[in-house]
Amino acid sequence: MTDLFDPLALGGGVLLRNRIAMPPMTRTRTSEGDVPNALMATYYGQRAGAGLIISEVADVAPSSNGYAMTPGIYSDAQVEGWRLVTDEVHRRGGTIFMQIWHVGRMAHPSLMPNGEAPWGVTGERAEGSDVFAHDANGELGYMRAGTPRRLATDEIARLVDTFAQAFANARRAGLDGVELHAANGYLFDQFMNSMLNTRTDRYGGGRVEDRTRFLMDVVDAAVREFGPGRVGVRIAPFGVFNSMPADPLAEETLLYVAGQLGRRGVAYLHIVYELMPTGNMETATFEKHHVDHDFLAKVRATFPGAIIWCGGFTSRTEAQDALDTGLVDLIAFGRPYIGNPDLAERLRHGWPLAEADRSTYYTRRGEAGYIDFPEYSEESSDGSS
Ligand SMILES: Cc1cc2nc3c(=O)[nH]c(=O)nc-3n(C[C@H](O)[C@H](O)[C@H](O)COP(=O)(O)O)c2cc1C
Repeated sequence: MTDLFDPLALGGGVLLRNRIAMPPMTRTRTSEGDVPNALMATYYGQRAGAGLIISEVADVAPSSNGYAMTPGIYSDAQVEGWRLVTDEVHRRGGTIFMQIWHVGRMAHPSLMPNGEAPWGVTGERAEGSDVFAHDANGELGYMRAGTPRRLATDEIARLVDTFAQAFANARRAGLDGVELHAANGYLFDQFMNSMLNTRTDRYGGGRVEDRTRFLMDVVDAAVREFGPGRVGVRIAPFGVFNSMPADPLAEETLLYVAGQLGRRGVAYLHIVYELMPTGNMETATFEKHHVDHDFLAKVRATFPGAIIWCGGFTSRTEAQDALDTGLVDLIAFGRPYIGNPDLAERLRHGWPLAEADRSTYYTRRGEAGYIDFPEYSEESSDGSS
């Protein structure tokens, strides 16, 4: 039986110290120019006890800026900023992959280069879903996503090259690997959804090969840069966050993707089971989705790499029970990592977990609710010293 504290050779090469992952969490603490900084380096370094840290999602290009104050990985200054983060995590013996995305239609003209329209698989807007952008007075707040412009076929091929450049940047910045954000209604997910993707070109929604082509082309670019053992993909089966239409072909699509990733020797598939209704990241309630073990078993039979399971884990027992199903290899703890930088040690010893204040998750509060959570000390039962 696999124990939560057993090491794992991810992708056959990257040695993880345990089976605990810190999943990507956007915390909107970058400096001017969407540049990572020393504050972020401290935050990630404090959490280096996780077997695998997956960074908050990074923008592949300025056109991907759906949320103000999220980091990018397209400028030299951003590469230098990320270098602070990776040096600190490595100094503390940790492993860190970077999550990368293009938000597609989940953007707002106020954040787009020259105020242009967000980029869409089609011109269909995410009605009822918000992004974090500037209002007419330049004030930041949640605003309805803009009406997208449908991407031309050749623009999609060029975007694959933009991802290739971002992967080269990520390697230069010292990241141990990359994770593609193909969940939660962002651009990869928009292409994969057969109801939303009504295109008829080679990226169109009718055939599974076509609606997954953009993702797989980007996976190939990541594999060329990092090697397959340092590439992962995140999916959210049957998710409807960001106004995604329920897709009757979702299972077919995801199992096809799992098979294709397996053929390429990709290190891991990261599966999120959480239910977030339409709204925005600040107000959406995170509910544990009913976990479909049959679907997980099908993925397991299709994909030989590691599987990460995320969504609603709060204790060692729950995590161990999930590992004991034999269906997954790593357990991701999201919100528990916000208030517990030493989460792995707390789980190992059965120490109590601190609760983070939700109002500090995303807002520009700097250190507050970010790097000011103490490690557990046995002298004090609430973890403060
Ligand atoms: C503050 C916050 C920011 C998040 N940002 C991201 C992100 O950048 N990329 C992503 O794929 N998921 C993001 N998520 C979702 C988490 O990775 C995770 O799937 C979710 O919190 C459920 O896991 P949990 O129940 O362990 O918290 C975020 C969640 C939170 C709470």
